[in-house]
Amino acid sequence: MFTVRSLLSTAFLTAFFIPVSAQTITGATDCVTAGKYTFCQDLWGAASGVGSQNTTSYYASTTGQIASWSTTYNWANAPSQVKSFANVASNTVQGFQLATLATAPTFWVWGYDSSSADLKADVVYNIWLGTASFGTPASSSSNYQMSFLASSHYQDAEGSLLASAINIPGSGATWDIWSGTSSTWNVISFVSTFENTNLTADLKNFLQYLVINNGLPASLYIQSIQAGTDVYVGSAELYTTRYSVEATAGGNILSPPPSTSCYSTSPPAQTHYGQWDPLLAFAEQLATSKTHTFLTNPGDEVLLARYSLAE
Ligand SMILES: *[C@@H]1O[C@H](CO)[C@@H](O)[C@H](O)[C@H]1NC(C)=O
Ligand SMILES: *[C@@H]1O[C@H](CO)[C@@H](O)[C@H](O)[C@H]1NC(C)=O
Repeated sequence: MFTVRSLLSTAFLTAFFIPVSAQTITGATDCVTAGKYTFCQDLWGAASGVGSQNTTSYYASTTGQIASWSTTYNWANAPSQVKSFANVASNTVQGFQLATLATAPTFWVWGYDSSSADLKADVVYNIWLGTASFGTPASSSSNYQMSFLASSHYQDAEGSLLASAINIPGSGATWDIWSGTSSTWNVISFVSTFENTNLTADLKNFLQYLVINNGLPASLYIQSIQAGTDVYVGSAELYTTRYSVEATAGGNILSPPPSTSCYSTSPPAQTHYGQWDPLLAFAEQLATSKTHTFLTNPGDEVLLARYSLAE
């Protein structure tokens, strides 16, 4: 029987974790690349309000697969205008055609350290699809924006409700689906029916649902997958302790999902990347306000306590 103190003893940390340095993004449009991801602060709508934001990548991994980061902001005025979209984009899940997408496993563990009562922000995946295999997100090369909204602080779904409480296999949740347009592209939004702070899913299953049920063209390509937060107004500190997205080709989007998916059982995605370690799982559950353990999996050999790092 070990206590919290003994679990986090120096010997334990030395044996299992390699602390790493953080990278702070200062400029409004600055990005930093780390491992298989690019972190951007993206204060694209800052001019519509007053405030500031600071985003830090706590990323560390020997394989480059798992991302940790946080963003702190304080925005006022124009509550219907987005101020920023701090996000992490995958540098590897690009150029996959839906028709032959086999899997796109992801997990995202996140939360708020603090948030103001007037907070209006979402926590969302943006998957950009286009007829060209590569293209800049939110540009004229984008034909579709698929959004997966995991937060209930504000659900910014465009258009009208297409379907309610849809069960997407392996996502551990039911989703409302909205359909609309924004700028020059179509927007389809899956909105979680609860605040989904520990999301594990195969994104292929969402895309497959739309191809089979709503005529989403299987000829489209995944141009970019971003995971981030649209902020309208308010202040908060949002952290991500673990984030990962991968994809494999060689499948058939029209074939049914496997009846037993490795993402539908517990523990899920971690087993896909390496040996599940109950000590790491326990350490993750210990994460409390101001002492988050930003950790990856045992294969990635990292735990990062960002506040102890800052000391
Ligand atoms: C962001 O960092 C700047 C410079 O350190 C600071 O003045 C500002 O208050 C920070 N903003 C937030 C929301 O933490
Ligand atoms: C996230 O979910 C996994 C699988 O259910 C679980 O093992 C893990 O402890 C959860 N993490 C948090 C922070 O809730």
